Order: sequence, then structure tokens, then C-alpha cells
Amino acid sequence: MVELKRPPTNSRGFYVRMRFLHSNGKHNQRQAQDKSFFRKYYKWVLWLSLSFYFFSSYLLSQSPKQRLNPLHTTSFAGSGSTHSSRALFESSLSLSNSSSTRSQEPKIDQELRGLKIYVYELPPKYNSEWLSNERCRTHLFASEVAIHRALLTSDVRTLDPQEADFFFVPVYVSCNFSTTNGFPAIGHARSLLLSAVQLISSEHPFWNRSSGSDHVFVASHDYGACFHAMEDRAIADGVPEFLKKSIILQTFGVNYDHPCQDVEHVVIPPYIPPESLRRTLEASPENGGRDIWAFFRGKMEVHPKNISGRFYSKAVRSVIWHKYGGDRRFYLRRHRFAGYQSEIVRSIFCLCPLGWAPWSPRLVESVVLGCVPVVIADGIRLPFPDAVPWPEISLTVAERDAVRLGAILDRVAATNLSAIQRKIWSPEVRRALLFNDCVEYGDATWQVLRSLAKKLDRSHRRSRVYSQ
Ligand SMILES: *[C@@H]1O[C@H](CO)[C@@H](O)[C@H](O)[C@H]1NC(C)=O
Ligand SMILES: *[C@@H]1O[C@H](CO)[C@@H](O)[C@H](O)[C@H]1NC(C)=O
Ligand SMILES: *[C@@H]1O[C@H](CO)[C@@H](O)[C@H](O)[C@H]1NC(C)=O
Ligand SMILES: *[C@@H]1O[C@H](CO)[C@@H](O)[C@H](O)[C@H]1NC(C)=O
Ligand SMILES: *[C@@H]1O[C@H](CO)[C@@H](O)[C@H](O)[C@H]1NC(C)=O
Repeated sequence: MVELKRPPTNSRGFYVRMRFLHSNGKHNQRQAQDKSFFRKYYKWVLWLSLSFYFFSSYLLSQSPKQRLNPLHTTSFAGSGSTHSSRALFESSLSLSNSSSTRSQEPKIDQELRGLKIYVYELPPKYNSEWLSNERCRTHLFASEVAIHRALLTSDVRTLDPQEADFFFVPVYVSCNFSTTNGFPAIGHARSLLLSAVQLISSEHPFWNRSSGSDHVFVASHDYGACFHAMEDRAIADGVPEFLKKSIILQTFGVNYDHPCQDVEHVVIPPYIPPESLRRTLEASPENGGRDIWAFFRGKMEVHPKNISGRFYSKAVRSVIWHKYGGDRRFYLRRHRFAGYQSEIVRSIFCLCPLGWAPWSPRLVESVVLGCVPVVIADGIRLPFPDAVPWPEISLTVAERDAVRLGAILDRVAATNLSAIQRKIWSPEVRRALLFNDCVEYGDATWQVLRSLAKKLDRSHRRSRVYSQ
């Protein structure tokens, strides 16, 4: 279970409550009257405030539209200290309790257009067996596990395949970690998926009747539906023939034609465990400020290697290292450090250059930890553009402009940085990028469901209803 669901009883949470009361005009008056009672009856005042808080949080949870209104958010974050913003982050997460989610059910049902999903039960070798390795559910490709788990307890799940719009096929392909370098080997992905498709198509009638077009798979590693980590091989292999008619949820996305997205698909964020981000925020000093100007930690080759005609990160990271390694405003580190989220939360700009693939887990970590992502990956297509206003909360720098990074960031710092920072603290935005154990209104799995609800023309059940 996610820790984030604990009731908001910590002192910071209370601070937000008081700010909320004060920012609400109608209640300022009452509070002024209350002041004379305060010394004698402070316990009652406290109790009233708490009751009011729980009542108002109930109201908030009742009106998701209101919570989606960015103005509403600014009224909290407007006065701008990192302290209140962080508290807001925590309160927004603890507010999204399963009980409040439940009270939104009619609304959710309306937005998801009554979507129903059947989740196949496959033998353990396709999924649960991989979970014996703890990393399987926490590493950056773990959305394949997270989406499956969230669907199992979701209201959109149906146990009756006859009333399903979509069929989810839970195969975990990214958990075969190499014993030598720890990277996931995905060489077995195609055969494992094919065997799962053979199994469901022989045991159930649903695959054959639609050629799999109402079936949903997750492909969360570098080149998504191509199931290979190197682009040239991925392109040569292409999307497996047996998956070409299905819907693929993939982290890979570009805004030009690419053989690895030549299939119906939804771009999803990489998986970052929400608990780790919350721990980072809690551990960071409340008014510590952001003392790092531009941050990057990760693989940066000093002398980029030519690997069959390609260079890691198209050598962009090497350019950054050579140009800015000696610049004191840039905090660049080439070695792994498990606690690097504590560096992101101290940073103003977080560089997100491409690796082999354009997407990076840093995108999610930066946004959630309030560091402005600087995306350096030409043509990248970012997840959930309906829910996340990427152009307003991030910077995009062309790969060829990596040499001018310092000047570009200088100009932003002098002009619109604070506007970007204000927008980045929106609770709706960070909620949309995180996968929770149970679907929560507006979270990453919910955004997937909303995307699927727009593809209901693929639903066999509905097409029959309409044609009759
Ligand atoms: C969250 O939900 C649990 C049970 O679902 C409940 O016990 C708890 O009080 C709730 N917390 C809040 C803040 O609503
Ligand atoms: C895991 O990957 C290795 C190669 O690294 C491969 O030999 C092995 O067959 C894979 N395991 C499974 C169960 O697919
Ligand atoms: C679906 O089609 C495959 C290949 O044509 C066939 O082997 C299989 O038996 C069919 N499944 C069902 C349930 O009829
Ligand atoms: C990289 O290697 C390929 C051969 O694999 C070669 O054709 C290409 O010219 C090399 N590129 C550079 C910049 O050295
Ligand atoms: C901030 O300014 C930069 C150029 O200085 C511009 O490219 C970017 O779109 C602006 N971003 C926002 C959110 O206004």
C-alpha cells in the first residue's frame, strides 16, 4: 500500500489548513470574531478549524473540475514560498485518499464513458513470478507492473469478458535483469508475448474476433513496441506482426513517423515510485532554497564511442560535459548516486538530455520535485499533453543548441523562470505523472484510462450495440 495515503496529521499539513482558512475571505471574518475566544477556548477553535478543513477537503474531492482549474491552484501557491508549495504537494497527495476517490465515482464514470476492461489471468511465468525480484516493481520500466496492479482493483475492471470494451494482457517483459550489468534483458520479450497471445487466443474467443484490436499491452522500455533497446535493431525488427492491430502503452514517443510507434498507442510516463519522491520532499530542508543552478547526473562519455554508427545521446551529453564541466553554475556528475533525487530538489534547472532513446525518468522526477526540466531531445513526444501543459512547465532546447545552454538558461532565469516555477507546482500535473497502487482520480493510470476511453470505437461490445 502506498504510504501517501496516510491522513494529513503532520504539522506541515496543518500549516496548509491554516493558510487555506486565511485565504478564504468568508471565513476570515468568522476567525476575527473567534479571536476573542481564542485564549480560553483554543481547543474548540482548533476542533472547529479541523472540522472545517475536513469538510472543505470533502468539497474539494467532490469537484474535480475545480481542482483542475489552475487559478484555484495559484490561490494556494501564489504567495510562493517553497515551504507552502511543498506542504501543498503533500496535502494534495494525502487528500487523494481512496475514500475521496470513491466519492468521485459518478464523475469518473462520466469522463471515462463507462469504460470496462477485462484483465486476463495468465500463468505466473508471464508476470507475478518476476516479482520475486524487488526491482521489478520499482525500476523505471515498472509501469508494466503498476498499470496491471492498479487495474486489478479499479472500478473499470470487469470480471465478465462479455461486457468488456478492452482486454488487458499483463506480460512483464522488463524484469529479466542481467547478472553482469543489472540492465533488463528484453531479448525474450517477443517470444514471451507471442506465447501469451497464443494462449489467450486458443483459450478465449476475444482475440480472434477482433484480431487483437481491442487488446492492450504495455511496452515500457526504450523503444516501446519494437522491443529492443538499440534504435537500429529496434527499427529493423519493427513492431511484432502479431501486435500490429493492438493498443500499446509505451514510454517511447516522437512527433515524426517512426517504425516503433507505427501502431495504435498511448505515450505514458516512466515509472518513479511515488513514495521515494515523497521521502525526498520530506527530507529536504523546508526553506533550504535551490542552491544548484543547473543539474545533471548520469552517463556522460568524455570520448563518445561510435557504436555501429551511433553515439550515445547523439553525443549531446559529451558536449554538455566538455562545455560546462568547468562552469561553477553547472553541477554535473558522471557517476551513479542512489540519492540523486535530493540533488534534483535542490536544483533550479534539471537537464533531461536524450540517452539512447529520447525519453528519460528525469522528466518525471524534475517536475514532481519542482525543478524545471530542460528537455534536450529533438522530436520527443511527452506523455498526456491534455493533462500536463509541457510547454508551460518545461524548457525545450534543440540538440544542436546544447553548446549554448548557459546563455539560454540565463535568459530564462532573467525573464520567465518564476512563471514556470509557479506552474510546475500544480498538484494536478504531478498527479498525472505518477502511478499509484490503486487508481486515483487524475493519476497516470487514470490518464491511460481516459486515453482508452477515446478509443471506444474499437470496442466490440459497443459496435454491436450501435449496429443493432
Ligand atoms: C483514508 O482512507 C482510509 C480508509 O479508506 C481512512 O481510514 C482514512 O481516515 C482516510 N484518510 C483521509 C485523510 O481521508
Ligand atoms: C533472461 O535473459 C537472458 C539473457 O540475458 C536469457 O539467456 C534468458 O533466457 C532470459 N530468461 C528468460 C526467462 O527469458
Ligand atoms: C483463433 O485462431 C487461431 C489461428 O487461426 C486458432 O488456432 C485458434 O484455435 C482460434 N481460437 C479459437 C478460440 O477459436
Ligand atoms: C562511426 O562508425 C561507422 C561505422 O560503423 C562509420 O561509417 C562512421 O563514419 C563513423 N562515424 C564517425 C563520426 O566516426
Ligand atoms: C520562457 O522563455 C523562453 C525564451 O526565453 C521561451 O522559449 C519559453 O517558451 C518561455 N516559456 C514560458 C513558459 O513562457
